[in-house]
Order: sequence, then structure tokens, then C-alpha cells
Amino acid sequence: MTKKTYIVGNWKMYCSPAEASLLVNRLKKEVGRVPADVQVVLCPPAVDLTTVRHELSEHDKFSLGVQNAYPMDEGPFTGEVSVAMVADIVQYVLCGHSERRHTFHERDGLIAQKVAATRRHGLTPILCVGETRHERESGHAKQVVADQLETGLSLLTPEEMGDVIIAYEPVWAIGSGENARPDDAREMFEYIRKSLSAVHGSALANAIPLLYGGSVNASNALGYLKLQDCQGLLVGGASTNYKSFATIIEKAAA
Ligand code: PGA
Repeated sequence: MTKKTYIVGNWKMYCSPAEASLLVNRLKKEVGRVPADVQVVLCPPAVDLTTVRHELSEHDKFSLGVQNAYPMDEGPFTGEVSVAMVADIVQYVLCGHSERRHTFHERDGLIAQKVAATRRHGLTPILCVGETRHERESGHAKQVVADQLETGLSLLTPEEMGDVIIAYEPVWAIGSGENARPDDAREMFEYIRKSLSAVHGSALANAIPLLYGGSVNASNALGYLKLQDCQGLLVGGASTNYKSFATIIEKAAA
């Protein structure tokens, strides 16, 4: 079975519903044929999801994801949107994005609950892991990533582990214009496989798609896609520019 390549666009807190509609329509026109082994996932802000879903009806090039979701199905959680509420609209949930970890102080325990709720509702979690600059410079990058992985996946059953995606996104590379060198990404991918294998066994570890994210653009995308262990990209800024995002998709499809 050929492995899939995932190109995930995280629109962050950009685009009103009207702007989202414009962006997705431009993308639909700009992106040519997407081969079956390339999965494009758009993650717009939650308020745009129904608009974008509507624009994508009868259109199978793109899937939808949400940037964050709360693990409880419903309740007194002002301002939150639950996994249960988006389960009919999206197929993917970003869990533990570095902006959630660092700006909103999300801890590994909560992220683990989000990952578990995502699988409980039959959706695919994209668990984001990555070290800060300080953690890298002090030689702790691998340990930090291993800890995030271990706790983030700790509430899943072995069956649920079969449908999980991991995105390695060094915090210092996100939104900074300073992408990680492909060699550094490769080293971390190898380490992630090793850590997953130690806890979950090598068959499962080898089946989990690993993505790179952090200042990916149309010029540097191929450097990661060529890595043996890399099965896709999580793209922030460049995904809100339809021409750049379409070029990145083309590189994955080539
Ligand atoms: P960036 O963001 O591509 O703008 O660095 C990455 C992300 O949000 O995951």
C-alpha cells in the first residue's frame, strides 16, 4: 500500500467566513489534480467551518480539520467548541499546536484528553510536538519531544493508535521565517520513530505519518518532502496564500 502524503493548512486566526469562502474558491481553481496518495487538509478557524464545508461539497480534493477542540462533549465551558460538535464537519483535529501550548498554556494532560476525544469520535488527531529554542540550545530537544509524545498519546488504546498523525514543529521555527534544516528534521523524525517504537512497538511506530511544520513555504517544502521519514507538511502562514499553498501541494503531488 502506498503511503499518503498530507499537506495540512493551518489558517490560524485569519479569515472571516466571507474571506474563507474567497480563499477556498481560489484554491479550488488554482490546485490542479490531486493524486489519491496526497491528502490536503484545510484547518480554518472554527467560525468558518460550515462555510468552507459548504464550498467543498461535491469537491473531493480537500478534507477539513479544526485547529483545536475541547475534549468534553458539552457543558459549561464558555468559549470552547467540542470535538463532538465538529465531528460531522471535519475529519482531523490539530492537538497541542505550539500556539495552544505556549500562548494558551495547554498542558500535556489536557492535550492527551483532546487526542483521546478526537479518536473517540472517529476523527484523526494531528498531535503537534516540538521544542523551544532554549530547549534545543540546552540539548533537551529530543527529551521534550519524547515527553510530549508519551503523554499526548497516553490515553489511547492500541487500536486507536492506528489512526494518529504526528507533526514535528519546532517552536522557534513557527511563524519565524526560520525553518529547521531538513537534516535536523530528519534526525528528529528518526528519534520520534524510535521513541514511538519503544512504547508502542515498531509496526505501529512505522505506520504513523510524521509531518514537518514551521515556516514551510513553496521554496523549502521539497527539502522535507524528500526525506524518507517525512509524510507531509503542516503549513501555517503560506497556507493562507492560495498560490503558495497550491505550489506546495504540487510539490507533494510531483
Ligand atoms: P508557519 O506555521 O508555517 O506560519 O510557521 C506553522 C503552523 O502553524 O503549524
